[in-house]
Amino acid sequence: MKRRFPRPRDLAPLMKFKKPELNAKKRRLDGALTIWDLRTIAMRRTPTAPFDYTEGAAEAEISLARARQAFEDIQFNPGILRDVSKVDTSSTVLGGPVALPFGIAPTGFTRMMQSEGELAGAGAAAAAGIPFSLSTMGTTAIEDVKAANPDGRNWFQLYMWKDRDRSMALVDRAAAAGFDTLLVTVDVPVAGARLRDKRNGFSIPPQLTLGTVINALPRPAWWINFLTTEPLAFASLDRWSGTVGELLDSMFDPTVTFDDLAWIKEQWPGKLVVKGVQNVDDARKLASMGVDGITLSNHGGRQLDRAPIPFHLLPEVVREVGKDLEVHLDTGIMSGADVVAAVALGARFTLIGRAYLYGLMAGGREGVDRAITILSEQITRTMRLLGVSSLEELTPAHVTQLQRLIPRG
Ligand SMILES: Cc1cc2nc3c(=O)[nH]c(=O)nc-3n(C[C@H](O)[C@H](O)[C@H](O)COP(=O)(O)O)c2cc1C
Repeated sequence: MKRRFPRPRDLAPLMKFKKPELNAKKRRLDGALTIWDLRTIAMRRTPTAPFDYTEGAAEAEISLARARQAFEDIQFNPGILRDVSKVDTSSTVLGGPVALPFGIAPTGFTRMMQSEGELAGAGAAAAAGIPFSLSTMGTTAIEDVKAANPDGRNWFQLYMWKDRDRSMALVDRAAAAGFDTLLVTVDVPVAGARLRDKRNGFSIPPQLTLGTVINALPRPAWWINFLTTEPLAFASLDRWSGTVGELLDSMFDPTVTFDDLAWIKEQWPGKLVVKGVQNVDDARKLASMGVDGITLSNHGGRQLDRAPIPFHLLPEVVREVGKDLEVHLDTGIMSGADVVAAVALGARFTLIGRAYLYGLMAGGREGVDRAITILSEQITRTMRLLGVSSLEELTPAHVTQLQRLIPRG
């Protein structure tokens, strides 16, 4: 091999010094290429107890691990030689437009994860043209969410409490504020066992013990935000000194049945979706009641552990009731490819919980924007590589579910 001295003329094109990004938050978020990267940043910046409340699931956290594994255990089957120069990720869901096939799932106590809370989620959803769901256990008023997403779609999630008048008063407020869809969550007759919260002594609001103060030292921004913004307020209660699980158990009504659902349906003027469906028989029953949609979900693994995997239920449920109502899906989505796989197997729409919350904890509103951008780019790229240019072109033939966790027999 013959060697020579490099000439300045050869070196010049190699030297591409970029202007350094002076905005630390932007630098941090731009460096995140996946939702898992956002999670790493979130963990650094959030005290352990609220981070674990967000990340954790019930019991041994098997439901969540399996749901994520199920998305990994697929094979995509691409078609070749299609024109994919333009890709359309928009569709119609529950009678209204969505720019992407996912929306933001309802999550409780969101301002405790990061002070911007629901307003960050609603603002980011507005900018991206996707629906935002506000939880009954949300920490921002219904009307304030509407103000943050005035022209976009807002959905309200209902938990039926023992105090029905108060639950229905929230539903009335959501209707008055123009929320177009009610998600009735049905997988919380009692709270699941969130062991991380017990171990961390996690309470609402977080308490200043010696342990939490030491844990706060490397995460000053979270505490400064927490202590200099409006104290957490809930629609349902002012203060609670127990764990989230104890709070849920004190409020939720374990006697709720299909008859109550029919009654709620009569009160609500908009679209109604039942969230937390986990078998075909219940899906059929809901279809016969005339609900507009169901969300196959095990609550992100936070309720029954070893629950059915929503993504595995999907093909059969779509086959049985897909013509009668919209089938949506959540639990375990950490990538845009997961969303594409769900749509290919018949989901009309998906919801993201932690994927959005990791973004929120990593950087407030901009962090949620980043999470949506990451998922959106992954969706577009996966569709192109599959050879499809619109969501309608996705079919079950594009996805093979590999067999590791499929029920036997
Ligand atoms: C921190 C947290 C709080 C949640 N709070 C609620 C809630 O108040 N109401 C509800 O219906 N679902 C709630 N969920 C469940 C989500 O709506 C959604 O079903 C779940 O997060 C989807 O799984 P994923 O996190 O893997 O995306 C919560 C989930 C998380 C992670």
